[in-house]
Amino acid sequence: MFKGNALVIGASGGIGKTLVKQLIESGCYENVYGVSRTFPEGPVKGVNYHTLDSENETLVSEYCQQLKDSGIQFTLVVCCIGALQTIGPNNLKVKPEKRLEDIQSQQLNYYFTVNSILPALWLKHVEALLKGAQPSTLVFFSARVASIEDNQLGGWYGYRASKAALNMLIKCAQIECQRRAKNICLVSYHPGTVATNLSQPFQSNVPEGKLFTADFTVTQLLRIIPSLSPENGPHYIDWQGRDIPW
Ligand SMILES: NC(=O)c1ccc[n+]([C@@H]2O[C@H](COP(=O)([O-])OP(=O)(O)OC[C@H]3O[C@@H](n4cnc5c(N)ncnc54)[C@H](OP(=O)(O)O)[C@@H]3O)[C@@H](O)[C@H]2O)c1
Repeated sequence: MFKGNALVIGASGGIGKTLVKQLIESGCYENVYGVSRTFPEGPVKGVNYHTLDSENETLVSEYCQQLKDSGIQFTLVVCCIGALQTIGPNNLKVKPEKRLEDIQSQQLNYYFTVNSILPALWLKHVEALLKGAQPSTLVFFSARVASIEDNQLGGWYGYRASKAALNMLIKCAQIECQRRAKNICLVSYHPGTVATNLSQPFQSNVPEGKLFTADFTVTQLLRIIPSLSPENGPHYIDWQGRDIPW
């Protein structure tokens, strides 16, 4: 049976770490690669880890070129990079805006850098590692709050807008892939609210039973992927596999 290779970008995060673990345990992949800014705590045995700063495009390009030169092709690539509330460069406090007065250019820049631009650069460089005869899936962790149609609450300007921009990048890429890499299926995934560092400051507001483990959302994603195809992509879906309005 054909076994492809899988790559997880952001393999150090709460969801990324769990994803590489489940990919290894599934036995469905020949090799599992994990790339991240920092080396993961509690690395998973058998994963080919690499650390690099995704904000340096040259490093992203060189890493992908090395994989290509080694003849590595992927059938699954998942990008888990994202930021919601964090400390950015030069001690920049990044916190979701509650009102217009909270909007700041440096913070907006950081949201767009991490949630839209870094995934876009990875998209640009991994495409060559996915195209070919085998059906291949490229998943980006987005969020339901990126849905323009579904936005009833407002707030979180930078996070919502930067993930909505990611969704648009995914949409454009699927159209281009339909011309030049018909085997690639693009997915924008909402994992639900998952108990990781990213959601930690907001977990007290989550209704009972709605705070998922990383294991749960990753299991759901891996279960849903085989049902998706490039012909009706890109898919903007949640952890139940249900479509989210763009
Ligand atoms: N958790 C949730 O409830 C939830 C809900 C909806 C969507 N999501 C999305 O799911 C994805 C994974 O989130 P998570 O919950 O696993 O969060 P997490 O534990 O905070 O992981 C975030 C990942 O993004 C990486 N990252 C952050 N800033 C970066 C930068 N400047 N350059 C390179 N890498 C950077 C982190 O790398 P380092 O480890 O090196 O910092 C880490 O690998 C994110 O895209 C998030 O927006 C999560």
